[in-house]
Amino acid sequence: MKRVDDFRLKFGQKELVPIIIGGMGVDISTAELALEAARLGGIGHISDALVHDVSDRRFDTEFVKGKTKFYKSNISNSDKSSVQFDLGELAEATRLHVGKTMEAKRGDGMVFVNVMEKLTMNSPRDTLQVRLNSALDAGIDGITLSAGLHLGSFGLMAEHPRFRDAKMGIIVSSVRALQLFLRKTARLGRLPDYVIVEGPLAGGHLGFGMDWEKYDLATIVAEIAAFLKTEQLDIPLIAAGGIFTGSDAVGFLENGAAAVQVATRFTVSNECGLPAKDKQEYFRASEADITVNTISPTGYPMRMLKNSPAIGSGIRPNCESYGYLLDGNGNCAYITAYNEQIALHPDGKNISVMDKTCLCTHMRNYNVWTCGSSTYRLKDTSRLQPDGTYLALSAEHIFRDYQFSVDHQVMLPA
Ligand SMILES: Cc1cc2nc3c(=O)[nH]c(=O)nc-3n(C[C@H](O)[C@H](O)[C@H](O)COP(=O)(O)O)c2cc1C
Repeated sequence: MKRVDDFRLKFGQKELVPIIIGGMGVDISTAELALEAARLGGIGHISDALVHDVSDRRFDTEFVKGKTKFYKSNISNSDKSSVQFDLGELAEATRLHVGKTMEAKRGDGMVFVNVMEKLTMNSPRDTLQVRLNSALDAGIDGITLSAGLHLGSFGLMAEHPRFRDAKMGIIVSSVRALQLFLRKTARLGRLPDYVIVEGPLAGGHLGFGMDWEKYDLATIVAEIAAFLKTEQLDIPLIAAGGIFTGSDAVGFLENGAAAVQVATRFTVSNECGLPAKDKQEYFRASEADITVNTISPTGYPMRMLKNSPAIGSGIRPNCESYGYLLDGNGNCAYITAYNEQIALHPDGKNISVMDKTCLCTHMRNYNVWTCGSSTYRLKDTSRLQPDGTYLALSAEHIFRDYQFSVDHQVMLPA
């Protein structure tokens, strides 16, 4: 009976354990978690979502405070078009986060950064260009393009000396998205080094509509594999979304995937950035506690626990401090939804906004408990302690369980 460890992900001469821990913003997939994956011979992701805030918390910078102060006079203004990111600071924050992580890297694996196109930051092209190139400057091993089609992203890095040497991949949920990406980037003469195929059971934002239940990961992986074969493109395919056991992973590896990307099981690891009490919410969740809704202002459906504190919250939009989803014209769907409620309740008190959520602030404060569809099985991966809480696990324990387990077994902690 095969184990994940019988397979290897090959990048040229380099061989890796074919387990990738997916990016989880904001700082849910911490540097510590990514570094463990790399130490164990796999790939870990950090995320550059809200990188200023991540830098402030980790390295005592004051990027967010400075921005809030600079735009203070705009706080009660519903027009956010003037709120911009300083590109120099964005570069600095990215270089700090990525650079410090890479300095700490040990072992044979790799650390990648997850870069979401939907973080439009009120100046989509310029900010994305800075994010991508600063991560390359800081020595990142690879960049995973996510949450968007990224039709221009390779072009934004084409002049960077590391453009052809760093690993670059994209997350897609359909063969069409991949075709489009390949067509748009063909002129650069650089193929992606890997393609992550994310199915509808993943955590975070979904690359599907609210009809996500009609799709299934194995079918999409097979479609994309067939397309690559027809085009004679030898690009490693990585399956993601709902892969809960080592045996689930072996199933994909035997059917043409070069690796798997997993995340949900690591949300209850010690190294994961979620606060300890929130990890207990993930452990305790039942299947009925998980929902896919449309409260993310990005327009993508998002899976989360139904008791996420962000749902229904009517806080004032906090774009002067964050503003990562402003579209380039000062708009964000949360601002619109919030203003509708303000018009109905002009005193501004006890406002509840059900339609959308202030994703920046709430992700920053870990109030959106986004999760994969298999979260309700996390309780089966740990032990309930006498005080009624579940034991958090080490990332190494979970990683090794994926790597060596057979028969859909899950190794419990000692
Ligand atoms: C808590 C959480 C946060 C996530 N955040 C992001 C993110 O910021 N960007 C992204 O591309 N994917 C994100 N994802 C998706 C994962 O990187 C991964 O591809 C997917 O969840 C794998 O499926 P699994 O969770 O069932 O193992 C997130 C997933 C989880 C569970």
